[in-house]
Order: sequence, then C-alpha cells, then structure tokens
Amino acid sequence: MKIGVFDSGIGGLSTLHQIMHTLPDEEYIFYADVDHVPYGEKTKEEVLSYVDEAVGFMVKQNCKAIVLACNTATSVAITPMRQKYKLPIIGIEPAVKPAVMHHGDKRIMVIATPITAREVKLRKLIDRFDTEGNVDVVPMPGLVRLAQNCEFESDKVMEYLKEAFKGYDLNNYSELVLGCTHYNYFKDSYARIFPNGIEMVDGNQGVANNLKNILKTCGIINLEAPKEKEEVKYYYSGRLLSDKDELQKIKMLHERLEEMLRL
Ligand code: DGL
Repeated sequence: MKIGVFDSGIGGLSTLHQIMHTLPDEEYIFYADVDHVPYGEKTKEEVLSYVDEAVGFMVKQNCKAIVLACNTATSVAITPMRQKYKLPIIGIEPAVKPAVMHHGDKRIMVIATPITAREVKLRKLIDRFDTEGNVDVVPMPGLVRLAQNCEFESDKVMEYLKEAFKGYDLNNYSELVLGCTHYNYFKDSYARIFPNGIEMVDGNQGVANNLKNILKTCGIINLEAPKEKEEVKYYYSGRLLSDKDELQKIKMLHERLEEMLRL
C-alpha cells in the first residue's frame, strides 16, 4: 500500500522529497490540488472542502497513510480529517520549536500564508514555545503564485520579498521559519536578502520522522522495497498526470529541492 502526500500545489513536493530520502522503500502518490491553489487566500470553509475531497480520493486509492504537506490545510482541516478517516493522517506546521531553541539573542521570523498566519493553531504554537516574545509572523500573500509559476529567483521575487519585509529590520533576525511548503523553493533568495545570513527552518524533516514513527507503531512500515516498486504517481486535482512536459517540470523541481536541501 502507498503513502499519499497532498498539497494545493508544488509546495508539497518539498515534503515528498524529504520523505523519500527518509523512507526510500515506500511507494507514493502525490496529489496537487492545482484547480484551487492558492489555498492561503481562500476561506477556511473552502479549504476544508478541498482537503476533504483530496483526502477522500487518496483513501479510495487505498493509501495506508496520508500526509497533509500543506501548513494551510493542516491548520484548518487536520482535526476534522482525523475524525472522519481511520488511517493515520500526518500534518505539517511551522517549525517554531527548533527555531526558538536556536535563535540566540536574535529574533525569529515566521513566514506563512494569510490563513496560517491568522489561524489560532499558529498562535497557540507560538504561545507554547516563545515565552519571551521573540517571534514575528509575516503573512506572504502572493508568494505561492510565484512558486506555482516556477519563479524562484527573478527580480520580481526579490522585489516581492523586499516589499513584504519592509517594516522589519532584517539585521535583528537569526531564524526564518518557512511556514508554507511552497516557500522552500526560495531559499537562495531569502539568503540574499538577510544581510547577516539567516538560518532557514522548515518542517519537512520533522514530518518525515513523524511519519516513520507512526508507520512503525502501526506495523505498516515497509522494511524492504516491494519487488516491483512503482514510480511515484502524480495527480492534479484527481487527474493522473501523464503529460510529458508536466512530468519533466516535476523532475526539475525535485532537482531544485535537492539543491535547496544544501542551503
Ligand atoms: N503549500 C501550502 C502551505 O504549506 C499552501 C499554499 C497555498 O495554496 O496557499 O501552506
């Protein structure tokens, strides 16, 4: 049985990429809800219904576990999805805890989609770990669209980031928490913008470890690869991807993500 990895778009590939490093003997399907991306600018109710449809689809595909590789979807839909379905559903949330542990005497910036930034789930997470008030949350409407257009380092991206960070003295920060899986593609651009360098923290390794532990605990982990291991199947809003150009684009994105792991 396969593991289903889901996002509104290409952001979740960064999670899939990390998970495939951690659990190479598993088989995967990846579902990108391209018909409805970006989630972060929709209402909670809309996002909940999109996630419900995607999770329902992956359950029908007989997945043994599902990863919501989307902070926005996790923030509004993980609880109702876990109530509705019996299989393990693993979510992702901004990696505030490790950032708080490493920030030294500098501040921490969490960047996230507008929904994630205003949801109570993030507020609770920050209140739990940031007892000294060192965390600033900066919503980034529009950045997911740039990612979906595969614009990662253009002048437009740099202008966008400069504008978004305008009210903040970037000298004051040592940690940047990537609170949306799409933001992993821009690591080299953030590195150019923060004058003293910046530590970038994302939740993907945490999700991969968490998934591994849950599969072990449930006794459904693959201890060795299936004899005829299938390639990852990619779905766009429920449609199996077979277009050569799109598949080539996904391959290129995995290559970029491999580079981003080194930053
Ligand atoms: N990649 C998703 C996240 O981690 C959301 C992007 C969006 O559709 O707004 O939040």
